[in-house]
Amino acid sequence: MGILVLLRKIKSCSHHHHHHHLLFFAFLFLHTTVAVKMSSTLDYTSYREVSSLRLERIQRHLDKINKPPLLTIQSPDGDIIDCVHKRKQPALDHPLLKNHKIQKVAPKVPKGMKVKKEGTAMEGVVSGGAWQMWHHNGTRCPKGTVPIRRSTVHDVLRAKSLYEFGKKKRSMAMSLSRRRSDAPDVVSGNGHEHAIAYTGSSQEVYGAKATINVWDPSIQVVNEFSLSQIWVLSGSFDGSDLNSIEAGWQVSPELYGDSRPRLFTYWTSDSYQATGCYNLLCSGFVQTNSRIAIGAAISPISSIDSNQYDITILIWKDPKVGNWWMSFGDSTLVGYWPAELFTHLAQHATMVEWGGEVVNTRATGQHTSTQMGSGHFAEDGFGKASYFRNLEIVDTDNSLSSVHEISTLAENTNCYDIKSSYSDDWGTYFYYGGPGNNPQCP
Ligand SMILES: *[C@@H]1O[C@H](CO)[C@@H](O)[C@H](O)[C@H]1NC(C)=O
Repeated sequence: MGILVLLRKIKSCSHHHHHHHLLFFAFLFLHTTVAVKMSSTLDYTSYREVSSLRLERIQRHLDKINKPPLLTIQSPDGDIIDCVHKRKQPALDHPLLKNHKIQKVAPKVPKGMKVKKEGTAMEGVVSGGAWQMWHHNGTRCPKGTVPIRRSTVHDVLRAKSLYEFGKKKRSMAMSLSRRRSDAPDVVSGNGHEHAIAYTGSSQEVYGAKATINVWDPSIQVVNEFSLSQIWVLSGSFDGSDLNSIEAGWQVSPELYGDSRPRLFTYWTSDSYQATGCYNLLCSGFVQTNSRIAIGAAISPISSIDSNQYDITILIWKDPKVGNWWMSFGDSTLVGYWPAELFTHLAQHATMVEWGGEVVNTRATGQHTSTQMGSGHFAEDGFGKASYFRNLEIVDTDNSLSSVHEISTLAENTNCYDIKSSYSDDWGTYFYYGGPGNNPQCP
């Protein structure tokens, strides 16, 4: 396996004519505000209606969330990674974390966590091989700092509003609640479609783990996305108090301005309403790792009938201190969600979900051709379909164990589907995904 990573051409989901607007408005901005530097990166937003007042508001917000860096690293994919002093990171701006001391003692890792082993039985699989594009710069963040992907004016302008920047849409929670109700109609009207596996509800769960292979599903429309993740949930799906901790990879042109798969985290303590956000785009998640940037592109990625690259994510509650930690790969700590942020999850989770989600913005007419996973259906299996393997949960005793009873759900199996199974090597695993629009999913 070469270390060289081929830079993929960014699949343009954009409309090329926007470049003309970009040039024109770059000129305009120079005369209205000096705070905005226009970049030449591929952009997805028409700038027609951006006033200098709005730009100033956006800039004020960015000044709040982009912390002054000790060092800045330019990633080959265009990202700017700021190395920010640990104690200056956005998390600590959260009102609930005013007196929070960054956890210094290592969390108690779950029993049964496997030590790194070289290679796997499966030919072609490079376990934990997927890594981040910005590492190819060669520069590292200094000790005592954490790498944070800098947000730009473009990032905010692609969002519906400044308020919605970095947030998940409310409809997500509705899709969850409808899915869980006994209503015969489980097809969500809001366009969120899933292919997921989940544990039975009302269990006491203290964490979840999985190894997920990484792809670059194509996204048809800028404000659609495709993600593959773990959900750790507690609270009621029908109320407004659902607590959720989420992590995985996602392709979101709206959030990142390109179509690369990126490592992401998400949290909410009120059913996706006012609290929480992706990555470090609001305060909350405390990062401790100086090598992993949340929101940064993963590279290399899997290709059809060739190398499969997967990432391993574990989210669990440190039984000693109570914070929810995330580790990446076999045992690399990334950071944690402080217990203070949550209500129900301050105790434990009651359900775990693993799988894919896409947004179909087409309310009527043709189904979107935004892909889930690799764009292949589960039936296509290893080398073609995307997978989650070695599904595990953490129990009351802080022990990792293979999940034995899972249910699966896909709203429309003609568009995206899921197929779970068990093997000695992969434990409980599933293949999932699909192409979206096709003759059976018109
Ligand atoms: C690495 O980042 C620095 C600082 O932003 C930049 O000057 C340099 O050109 C980058 N190097 C590479 C190889 O991208």
